[in-house]
Amino acid sequence: MSATLAPMPITSPLPTALEGRTVLIVGGSSGIGLAAGALLTSVGARVALLARDPARLSDAVDRLRTTPGVSVTGIAGDGTDETVLDRALDQAGPVDHVLVTAGVFSAGALLDTPHDQVREAVEGRIWGAYGTARAAARRLPAGGSITFSSGHYLARPIPGASAAIASIGAVEGLTRALAVELAPRRLRVNAIRFGVVDTPLARGAFGLADDAAVAAAGQGTPLGRFATAEEAASAALFLMANNFMTGTVITVDGGQALV
Ligand SMILES: NC(=O)c1ccc[n+]([C@@H]2O[C@H](COP(=O)([O-])OP(=O)(O)OC[C@H]3O[C@@H](n4cnc5c(N)ncnc54)[C@H](OP(=O)(O)O)[C@@H]3O)[C@@H](O)[C@H]2O)c1
Repeated sequence: MSATLAPMPITSPLPTALEGRTVLIVGGSSGIGLAAGALLTSVGARVALLARDPARLSDAVDRLRTTPGVSVTGIAGDGTDETVLDRALDQAGPVDHVLVTAGVFSAGALLDTPHDQVREAVEGRIWGAYGTARAAARRLPAGGSITFSSGHYLARPIPGASAAIASIGAVEGLTRALAVELAPRRLRVNAIRFGVVDTPLARGAFGLADDAAVAAAGQGTPLGRFATAEEAASAALFLMANNFMTGTVITVDGGQALV
C-alpha cells in the first residue's frame, strides 16, 4: 500500500467537525452502535448502519429517522465478511469514519468450551476488525478514522471469559499496529475500552431481566451504576472528530478498572 503523504487536515474537534460527514457503524442496530447513530445524526452526520438481523436493523433505522431531515441507511449483512464490508462502504459512501461495535460476549471456561465456540468468538472479533480496516483503508479520505470496541475485562479479567478477553486484546494490538501502518495515508485508528454499558448485550450476558436488576447490579461499581449507551458512544464521536487522535485506546468504564 503506497503512502499518500497528504497533509493531515486540521479541523475543529468540536461537534461541527462531524456535520456533513458520513459514518458507517458496523453493528449499528443496537446498544452502543445505535446510540452512536443517534448522536451522529444529532450533529448533522450521515449514518449507515450495518447489522445482520434485518428486522432489528429496520427498527433501528426507523428510530433514527424520527428526527426530520436526518440521513440514515440500513445495510443488512455480516460484518465479519470483508465482501460485505466492501459493499457496505460502497453503498454508504463516500464514508469518512467507521465505528465497529459488532460483537457478542462469548463466555466459557477453558476446559468446558468447545473448540468451535472459541474459534468463532476469536475469529469473528479479529476478522471483523481486520476486514473492516482493509475495506476502509482502500476508501477513507485523509483525516478519516476507524474506531474499534474493546472491554475493561482486558485490564481486570473475570474467570470464564478467556476467549472473549483474548480477542479484545488482539483488537487493541491491531489498533496500535494499524495506527502506525495507516498514518502515512493520514488515516487514524483507535479503540474504546468499555466498562459495563446498559445494552441488550450486557443485559443478556449478566441475566439482567429489567431496569431494577440493571440498577441493582450497577451499585457495586465506583459510580454506582453502569454506563448508558449514549455515554459510551460519545467517546466514539470524540475520536472521529479529533484529527490528532490515533493509536489510542480510551477507557469509558466509570472507574471500574480501578477497583
Ligand atoms: N455492553 C457492554 O457492557 C460492553 C462492555 C465491553 C465491551 N462491549 C463491546 O461493545 C460492542 C457493542 O456492544 P453492545 O453492548 O452495544 O452490543 P449489542 O447491543 O448486542 O449490539 C451489537 C450490535 O452488533 C451487531 N452485530 C453483532 N455481530 C455482528 C456481525 N457479525 N456483523 C454485523 N453486525 C453484528 C448486532 O446486530 P445483529 O446481531 O443483528 O448483527 C447489534 O447491532 C461489542 O463489541 C461488545 O463486545 C460491550
